[in-house]
Amino acid sequence: MLDPSLRQRLQQTKNITVFTGAGISAESGIPTFRERFTGLWANTDPQEVATPEAFRADPQRVWDWHVHLAGTVRRAAPNAGHRAIARLQEAVGRVTVITQNIDDLHHAAGSRDVLELHGNLFRLAPFVDEEALFAGERGPLICHLCGGYALRDDCDPYAGREDLACLRLEAGPVPRCPACGALLRPDIVWFGEPLDPHVLGAAFEAADACDALICVGSSLEVEPAASIPYRAIRRGAVVIEINPAPTSLTEHADAGIQGNASAVLPELFREVWG
Ligand code: OAD
Repeated sequence: MLDPSLRQRLQQTKNITVFTGAGISAESGIPTFRERFTGLWANTDPQEVATPEAFRADPQRVWDWHVHLAGTVRRAAPNAGHRAIARLQEAVGRVTVITQNIDDLHHAAGSRDVLELHGNLFRLAPFVDEEALFAGERGPLICHLCGGYALRDDCDPYAGREDLACLRLEAGPVPRCPACGALLRPDIVWFGEPLDPHVLGAAFEAADACDALICVGSSLEVEPAASIPYRAIRRGAVVIEINPAPTSLTEHADAGIQGNASAVLPELFREVWG
C-alpha cells in the first residue's frame, strides 16, 4: 500500500495526529454532508437548519432537524476505521484525533485524546441570541446555570446542574434552561459561528507537533478545519490521505490512498505497525 521508504518513516513516528471528517462515519450509517446524492446538504439547505439565524427564526424547526439526525447517530456504532484509530494508541507513543464529526464515535471506539472541532451533538448549550444582544433587547446578565445570557432577569438561584443535565436532544418542544429560561440548542458549530478557541488552539498545536498526520474522509471544504492538514505539510510531517475521492490535499500529501476508511485503515496500520 505504501512505498518502503514512506513505511519506514511512519514506523519511526512517535506522535501521530489523525484528522477525520464525515467519511469515517459513513460506513457506520451516518450520511456525509456534501456527497452529491446522499449528503445531508444534498437535500437540505444548511442555511435553513444549521445557522444561528435559522434557530432565531424558527427554533423548533432547527431542533426537530437535529433530533432526526440524532436518531440516526444514536443507532450508529463505531466501524473498523474508528476502531483501528483507537488501537493505534497502543502502537504509537502519542495519538491525537482531531475530528470535525459531532457523532462521538471516536470516543465510543476507545480513542482517548479527541478534539471535537465542531462540538458534540449530544451536549446542549444555551442559545446566545447575538442579534437581540446587539439590538439592546436583552440585558447582559449571565445565567449561573447554563452560562448563557439570561432570558429572565430573575434567574432562579435554586436551579441546579441536575436540572440541566436531565435535558436531552429528543423530540418535543425546544427545552429551556431551568434557571433563566434561555432556549437550549445542540452544542455544535453552525455556519457563521466561531470554533471554540481552546479546541482550535489545541488542534493547531497537535498538527504543529506531530511527525505524521493521517487525514480520513473529509472534503476539506470547511475552514478553519481544512487548514489543519496543511500545517503539518508545511512543517515536513508525513501526510497520508484516505478518501475514495480526490480532494485539494491529495496532490500535496505523501500518499493519497483511494478507498473506504473501514477497509484501508486496518490494512494500512497492519502493514506499518504489524
Ligand atoms: P463532507 O461531506 O464535506 O465530505 C465527506 C468526505 O468523505 C468526502 O470527501 C467523501 O469522498 C469522503 N468519504 C465518503 N465515504 C467515505 C468512506 N467510506 N471512507 C472515507 N472517506 C469517505 O464532510 P466533512 O469534510 O466532514 O459541520 O465536512 C466538514 C463539515 O461540514 C462538517 O463537520 C459539518 C459540515 O457542515 C458541522 O457539522 C458543524
